Amino acid sequence: MIPSDTIDKIMDATRIDEVVGEFVSLKKRGVNLIGLCPFHNEKTPSFNVSVPKGIYKCFGCGKGGNAVNFLMEHEHYTYPEALRYLAQKYSIDIVEEKPSPKQQEAIDEKESLFNLSAFAQKYFEEQLLQTEEGKSVGLSYLKERGFSLEIIKKFGIGYCPDKWDNFSQNALKNGYKKEYLVKTSLSKSKDQLLYDTFRGRITFPIHNLSGRVLGFGARIMTSDKKRPKYINSAESDIYHKSKVLYGIFFAKSAIASNDNCYLVEGYTDVISMHQAGITNVIATSGTALSIEQIKLIRRYTANVTLLFDGDPAGIKAAFRSTDMILEEGMNVRIVLFPEGEDPDSYATKYRPAEVREFIESQAVDFISFKTGLLLDEAQDDPIKKAKLIREMAQTISLIPEPITRSLFVKKCSNMMEVEENMLVTEVSRLRRQRVIQKKQSPGASESRDLPLPQTTTGQQQKPDEHDNNDVSEKELIRLLLNYGSLDMVFKVENEDKRMEDIQVKVVDFIVRDIQEDKLVFDNPDCQAIFNIFEEAWQDQQLPNEKVFTEHASPSIQKLSIDLQTNQYNLSSNWEHRHKIYVLTEEENLKPAVLHAVYDFKLKKLEKMIKKTQEAIKEKERNNQNETDGPPIRELLQTMNDLDLKRKQFAGELQRVVTR
Ligand code: GTP
Ligand code: MN
Repeated sequence: MIPSDTIDKIMDATRIDEVVGEFVSLKKRGVNLIGLCPFHNEKTPSFNVSVPKGIYKCFGCGKGGNAVNFLMEHEHYTYPEALRYLAQKYSIDIVEEKPSPKQQEAIDEKESLFNLSAFAQKYFEEQLLQTEEGKSVGLSYLKERGFSLEIIKKFGIGYCPDKWDNFSQNALKNGYKKEYLVKTSLSKSKDQLLYDTFRGRITFPIHNLSGRVLGFGARIMTSDKKRPKYINSAESDIYHKSKVLYGIFFAKSAIASNDNCYLVEGYTDVISMHQAGITNVIATSGTALSIEQIKLIRRYTANVTLLFDGDPAGIKAAFRSTDMILEEGMNVRIVLFPEGEDPDSYATKYRPAEVREFIESQAVDFISFKTGLLLDEAQDDPIKKAKLIREMAQTISLIPEPITRSLFVKKCSNMMEVEENMLVTEVSRLRRQRVIQKKQSPGASESRDLPLPQTTTGQQQKPDEHDNNDVSEKELIRLLLNYGSLDMVFKVENEDKRMEDIQVKVVDFIVRDIQEDKLVFDNPDCQAIFNIFEEAWQDQQLPNEKVFTEHASPSIQKLSIDLQTNQYNLSSNWEHRHKIYVLTEEENLKPAVLHAVYDFKLKKLEKMIKKTQEAIKEKERNNQNETDGPPIRELLQTMNDLDLKRKQFAGELQRVVTR
C-alpha cells in the first residue's frame, strides 16, 4: 500500500509533458503543447497538454485527465501500477505502509487461495497428460474434439480423476488446508469427509489478467442429461464471476493490437478460435455479461464483436449485451452463427481464413442486426413495426456520445423507413426520461383546482346522442394509448413553501381528472378504452396494448390501432389549427395533455351550457311556475357559473397553446 504523502510527492514531481512525451510527440502551441491523439485515429492534432494544469485533453475524442490517468488509459496500468511507474521515473522511494494484522490476514488468505488454485491446475494437467485414466478418458475426448496438444497446454486444460477424493487427499498431503480446499470449492465437505468437486471432468482453468488461476470450469464428457454439462468454481475471495472473462490473459494484447474484441459464450469457443489463430477472443462462460466485464474490455479496446449462437437464447443474450456495451460508450457489432453452429464448431469445421472471412463479412451493427432479424415479420404489421422502432430508439438512446447517436438515428430511420425527426424526438424523450428519476407521484397536480360543476340536476352527466365531433375525446384517448406511461413534470409548492418538481404519469393525470369531474365520453368506444385504463390504473398498471388491438369489438380494435398509428398526423393537425410551431410531440407532452384535457372539458361545458340555455328557454316558454325541474333562478345561476368556468377553461387553453 502506497502511503498518501508518498502519492502527493509523486504527483508533485510529475510533469505531464514528460510523461505524455514518452508516448506522443508534442509540439508547442501557445501555452499548451499539442500532438496527435494516441486514443483515436486523427491526421490533424487535437490532443492538448497543459503543463501548468498538469492535464491532457483531446478535443477530438474527449479523453482527458492527469498523468496517472494517461498511464492508466494508454498503458492499461492499474492505479498503483501507474504510481509506481511515476515513482521510478522521478526516483521517489516508495516505503510501503505495513498492512494492519487484519489486512495482512486477508492478503495471506488470498495468497493461499491463489497458491492452492495453482496447485490444482498443475495436478489436473498432470492427470490429463500423464496418467492412464487421464489419457484414455480426457485427452482422447479433447483430441476427438480437435484440440491440439499445443493448445491444450497453452490453456492449461486438465482432468480430475473419476475417484471420490484423489485430488483432495493429494492437496492435503502437500500441506494445503482443508479450509481453503472448501473455500475454493475445489473440494466439497460431507460428514467431515472431503470429495472432489470436479471428479470425472475436464478442467478449464480461469486466469486473471496477470495469468494466475482463480477458478475452474469443468466439463462432463458423457451426454448424461441429468448432470450439468459444466460446473464452475463457486465465488470466492479470489474468484468473482462478474469480474473475470475467460481467456483475457491470453487475449489481452491481441485485443489491444487489433483494437477489437471478439466475445463468445463458452470455454471451447475461445480455445478453438485461438487454435485457428484468432486470438482476440474471450468468453463470458455462461453468465450474463456484466458492467465490470465490459469495463475490463474497455481497458484494451472500445470495439466489441459479439459472436453468438443463432438460437433464441443467443439472440436474447446478444440484445442484452448490446445495450450494455453501447451504454458504456463502446461500439458493438454482432455475428450470429448459422443454426446449430457455435464459434467452436465453426472453427473446427472450416479453415482459419474462412472463419475470419465469415466473421468479418457477417458482422453487423445493432440496427442492421435487429432489422435483419425482425423486420420481415414486422414489415406488414404496423403495430409490430412501431414496437420494433421503439425498441431501436430505446437502444440508441443508451449511446452516450451524441454524434454516434445521431448516426444511428439516421441509419435506423433509413432502414425502418421512418422520419428521422420522429426518431430524434423519441430518443431524446427516452434520454430525458432516464435522467428524471422515476418515482410514483403523490398525485397532486397544478390543475386540480378546476372542478367541473355537475349537471343542473346534481346527477352524473349521462352520455347523450353520439356526437360526430368527437375529436377532443379521441385526442385524449390517443394520448392515453401512446403516452400513458410517460411522466409529466409539474411544479408544486411543498410544505416548506418551496417549489418542487413532481412527476405525474399521463395516465394518472387523465384518469383522475376525468374521474373527479365524473365526465363521460360521448363516443362509446372512447369510453370503453378509457374504462380499461381506469380499471388497470386502480392497480397502478397500464393495460397491455393487446387488450385493445385484440379487443372483441372490431370498432375498438380499429380505433385503438388508428390512434396509435396515425399519431403524427393528428398532432400536425393540432399544429395547424393553432398555428404554432410544435417541435415534437413528446417534448411538448405536458402542454399536449393539458390541452387535450381542457379541450375535452370545454366541449363538455359548452354542451352543458347549451342544455341549460334550452332548459331556461323551455321554462320561459312554459311559464315560470312549472313544478318539475329546478326553478329558473337556479338555472340562471348555473348558467352563470358554467359561463365563468368556460371562460376560465378557455383562458387555460389559450395559455397552454401560446405558452
Ligand atoms: P461444448 O458443448 O463443450 O462445446 O461447450 P459450449 O461452450 O459450446 O457450451 P454451451 O454453448 O452449451 O454453453 C456456453 C457456456 O455456458 C459454457 O462454456 C459454460 O461456461 C456455460 N455452461 C454450459 N452448460 C452449463 C451448465 O450446465 N452449467 C453451468 N454452470 N454452466 C454451463
Ligand atoms: Mn460448443
